[in-house]
Amino acid sequence: MLRNGLLHLADSTRVRDLVEQAPVSRAVVRRFVPGAGTTDAVGAATALASTHRMATIDYLGEDTTDLAHAEHTRDAYLTLLSAFAAEGLTSGGVVEVSLKLSAVGQALPDDGHRVALEHARQVCQAALNAGTTVTLDMEDHTTTDATLETLRELRQDFPDTGAVLQAHLHRTEADCADLADEGSRVRLCKGAYKEPESVAFQGSDVDKAYVRSLKVLMAGRGYPMIATHDPRLVEIAGALAAKHGRDPKSFEYQMLYGIRPEEQQRIADRGDQMRVYIPYGEQWYGYLMRRMAEKPGNLAFFLRGVASKG
Ligand code: FDA
Repeated sequence: MLRNGLLHLADSTRVRDLVEQAPVSRAVVRRFVPGAGTTDAVGAATALASTHRMATIDYLGEDTTDLAHAEHTRDAYLTLLSAFAAEGLTSGGVVEVSLKLSAVGQALPDDGHRVALEHARQVCQAALNAGTTVTLDMEDHTTTDATLETLRELRQDFPDTGAVLQAHLHRTEADCADLADEGSRVRLCKGAYKEPESVAFQGSDVDKAYVRSLKVLMAGRGYPMIATHDPRLVEIAGALAAKHGRDPKSFEYQMLYGIRPEEQQRIADRGDQMRVYIPYGEQWYGYLMRRMAEKPGNLAFFLRGVASKG
């Protein structure tokens, strides 16, 4: 119930305004979002690189219904890719970017698909020039078909473009089979959006579904990106990699910035690839609320921060 309430709050403009304007919020948010500017993202990724952790950068913003804002988001990606390239962090994909299609125009009326595709193409070209890749984030289930269609179109020119699949959706095991081909980068996560039972598994069935999809990806010829903090799933991924004789360079683990950092380091130190998802930007509210919904302890952490500094 708490999870549903928090996911509902993620959509509440009034609560968002209140939290965003609270003077202490930003300091507390720093655990999950290193800052609002490109330099904050570069600083966070540089620190991770020094401890052998790779990164994927997300410029926060979603559900854009305004063309100028979609263009602004595209431009932010172009700027961040050149800033990272200038630091020598993009070559070989040490730092890549994660892109939400709704942030670059997917939800615009009439020609959202075309606008988002064109913007994503420009970001993919900039990533290619910088020696790195783009992974498309996955949003709620009403966008899955459109996002996978955009992926197919992008991969014709940029075959390294990756996608996120959400294990909780009933369709995902089949989507994994479709995308388990040579060169295909698939980030498998549990799924952060509240979805109805008609389309998604609930509760512990999500973990079982994750394992089924993971088996398909690890047995396939693509490049699985195991995006979870769940210790059991991390262990199962390791066992599947061994079973299929996978080279450690043929898959990677991924976790979110600020979540289980010791485990991130342990995985990197044992010689496996570990990538950290770094969100940055002014629009941190929806992202933060989804993290709170995943773990009520985070809410306590947040409220403690507000109480002690307010
Ligand atoms: P689960 O939530 O069951 O957590 C397992 C354990 O991990 C917990 O017991 C706790 O120890 C730790 N943990 C998990 N979340 C925590 C938190 N917030 N704070 C502290 N500890 C926590 N979703 C989506 O719908 N679309 C997307 O595009 C993406 N992209 C994405 C990229 C990457 C790199 C990651 C890691 C995750 C995503 N997600 C996502 C989010 C994903 O769907 C999911 O909501 C979270 O990863 C939490 O699920 P876990 O698999 O970690 O398991």
